Amino acid sequence: MIAPVKDGNQTQLSDHAQRSAHQAIGFLMQQGVENADCISLAAGLVDEDSLPVKIVRDAVAELLSSPESGRKLLQYGITPGPEPLRRIFRSNLARIEQRDDGLEDLPLSQLMLTTGSQQLLSLVTQALFNPGDICLVAAPTYFVYIDVLQAAGAEIVPVIADAEGMRPDSLSAAFERIQAEGRLDRVRLVYIVSDFDNPSGVSVSAERRPELLRIVQQFSLHNRIFLLEDCAYRELRYDGEMIPSIWSYDASRETVILAQTFSKSFSPGVRVGMGVLPQCLVKAVSDLKGNDDFGSAHLNQHIVARAIRTGEYAEHVRRVCESYRRKRDAMVAIVEHEFSGMPGVSWFTPLGGMYVWMRLPAAIETGFTSPLFKRATQVDKVMYVPGELCYPADWAGRPRCEMRLSFGVQNVAGIQEGIRRLASAVREVLSTTISMQAGVKSSAEPSR
Ligand SMILES: Cc1ncc(COP(=O)(O)O)c(C=O)c1O
Repeated sequence: MIAPVKDGNQTQLSDHAQRSAHQAIGFLMQQGVENADCISLAAGLVDEDSLPVKIVRDAVAELLSSPESGRKLLQYGITPGPEPLRRIFRSNLARIEQRDDGLEDLPLSQLMLTTGSQQLLSLVTQALFNPGDICLVAAPTYFVYIDVLQAAGAEIVPVIADAEGMRPDSLSAAFERIQAEGRLDRVRLVYIVSDFDNPSGVSVSAERRPELLRIVQQFSLHNRIFLLEDCAYRELRYDGEMIPSIWSYDASRETVILAQTFSKSFSPGVRVGMGVLPQCLVKAVSDLKGNDDFGSAHLNQHIVARAIRTGEYAEHVRRVCESYRRKRDAMVAIVEHEFSGMPGVSWFTPLGGMYVWMRLPAAIETGFTSPLFKRATQVDKVMYVPGELCYPADWAGRPRCEMRLSFGVQNVAGIQEGIRRLASAVREVLSTTISMQAGVKSSAEPSR
């Protein structure tokens, strides 16, 4: 027998790399490239006009004005970010939380500056998960985090959410089911985007915040179950008052991991994020970050810290919110105008963030291979994010008829035109579906 020829050029990828294939974000970006002539209501990019060019230019000019200070900032920093900067970021968190005490009792060792919040999500997942461990997430949830969990080999358990965010009764029921299966010791994390969720736009109500925390703590019987609170959109609030974070209810600061980012409120090009970690996770996450980059971009951390220190950051956030409020209003108004007469279509009006979440009749699928996606991108030239990406891929119950519509990057005219085009695509697919259903019905009727 002839031995099979070994191909020395074959690439043997790790399990982790193989589990990272077929990412939703990769598909979506590819679709963006292939449909570059479309109006994108899909991209999660931020508003271009309000990016803080002047603040960053002034900051860089000042930070590099003397060769000595400039050289320090152009050098490596340290893994969690320099302590004086973490002090400034802590005071910013205290301002957001409306705490008079400046959160000075929060040890700086528990703060970590990261490359956006995405790095923190990834490091925390690496620190906690072995394949088969369980994460509970709101359904729907941030699809890039679903990919991170999938790459870690995690089992993702969806928990029902409504207009007030993740439902405490559904969270309890999910825990009870896992406990009855004898698998409670495999649960590592509950992941919640507490304000203006990506994709649903929903915020967890003030009443539910302590309740969700209490449930997580109640089921921390075998090992500590953490609650990862992702606050990516928290500062982009256009109506109503700021709500205390879930983290603020965690008196012992041992359960909640807080992920904050300056990408949405300031600039994703600067890409600075911050995590507040329970003490017991600091070393593990820091060790993993050491392997990753032993410190995020030092100069960028100084740019954001300076903007916080001078007050320019808070002022900038106010301006950004005004601009997004106009765009949110424009999107909701045109959606109302175009879709309100369509049977079975509903949407959620967010009080902040960047997304309107829309549901179509169940028969109208929205996925990449659906007639609607094809019609929208090829004929009407508009793109959206198919809602099914925001649920665990192996969940049989996931709805297939939803869409995430972003008002982040388009201007008002782009939003209006984009929604008009989308409505035209939906109208067309709805009428084809209805006439097909009518055809099936009449051919199924016995002939007289
Ligand atoms: C919910 C959520 N979390 C985290 C991130 C990561 O953002 P960044 O890494 O830029 O902070 C995003 C980005 O879109 C997001 O929508």
